[in-house]
Amino acid sequence: MEFKHISVMLEECMNGLNIKDGGVYFDGTLGLAGHTKEILKRGNNVKVIATDLDTEAIRFAKENLKEFDGRFTLVHDNFKNFKSIVDELGVELLDGALLDLGVSSYQLDDRSRGFSYMAKEEKLNMKMNEESDFSAYDVVNGYSEKELYEVIKNYGEEKFAYNIAKNICKERQVQKIETCGRLVEIIDKSIPKKYGDQGHPAKRTFQAIRIEVNGELKGLAEAVKDIVFGLKKGGRLAVITFHSLEDRIIKNAFKELETDCICDKSLPICVCGKRREIELVNKKPIVAGKEEVDFNPRAKSAKLRICERV
Ligand SMILES: C[S@@+](CC[C@H](N)C(=O)[O-])C[C@H]1O[C@@H](n2cnc3c(N)ncnc32)[C@H](O)[C@@H]1O
Repeated sequence: MEFKHISVMLEECMNGLNIKDGGVYFDGTLGLAGHTKEILKRGNNVKVIATDLDTEAIRFAKENLKEFDGRFTLVHDNFKNFKSIVDELGVELLDGALLDLGVSSYQLDDRSRGFSYMAKEEKLNMKMNEESDFSAYDVVNGYSEKELYEVIKNYGEEKFAYNIAKNICKERQVQKIETCGRLVEIIDKSIPKKYGDQGHPAKRTFQAIRIEVNGELKGLAEAVKDIVFGLKKGGRLAVITFHSLEDRIIKNAFKELETDCICDKSLPICVCGKRREIELVNKKPIVAGKEEVDFNPRAKSAKLRICERV
């Protein structure tokens, strides 16, 4: 298995993070360490603390970062545990942080991980963290019809979520749904053929189940806030999202942190005491240029939002 992942908006992230010599940075989504490596390259004696749920990523990244030995700490954990991770390492405040959300190409490309609707005989898995005991199989075979409908509708924004959930439940009464290929067949027959031009019919449902299995959206806004509170004044947080559900959460979290007083406008003086914690570095999300998208189609849906601690 070849490990491959092209880091998205690398230059834009580095410019946005404004790397400082001697700075300490947090990369919550290490992956194959493309962004981390670049952070380490950009400043003298820069240090990085990085997390990933995937032990394979950690193992590969360690090799990839060999030349920077002593300047990085890799932690197999969820970035949502940011507070306890930095506490345990005795780090006080950071100079910057990055989140490049979602799955990596190496996870999608490794058919045995069961993330891809292109995998046929592979078991339904989709776990970023192989040590977790909750997989796509449990969602597909264990959730009630209503729960399945909600996952597929809310996390996949799938118009035919009702049909898909109903057919999954019908099919699994006859035989458990074991493989990615079997699930694709069920999705395929749940979507009228005339809607077949909107990309692969299973794409949205697979995204939805993956988000559920890995709890990707739960606690994301809180994690963003924790990370912002962990930055020095002038420190920056850059977040790359790949679909509208993630982006909305980041946009709203930034908005809340950016808001000064939230008192009723009719009050003569502020009684809430809320003060803004950040300033937006870019008002509108940054998107990848045409050249990057031509070279790496995955960058097409990416949005980069950056804020600075005030
Ligand atoms: C898009 S990739 C990151 C790629 C990386 N920036 C690079 O340049 O190689 C996302 C990575 O984040 C990890 N990940 C996703 N959600 C996570 C979470 N909540 N905590 C820790 N790691 C997470 C995934 O396992 C995956 O390896």
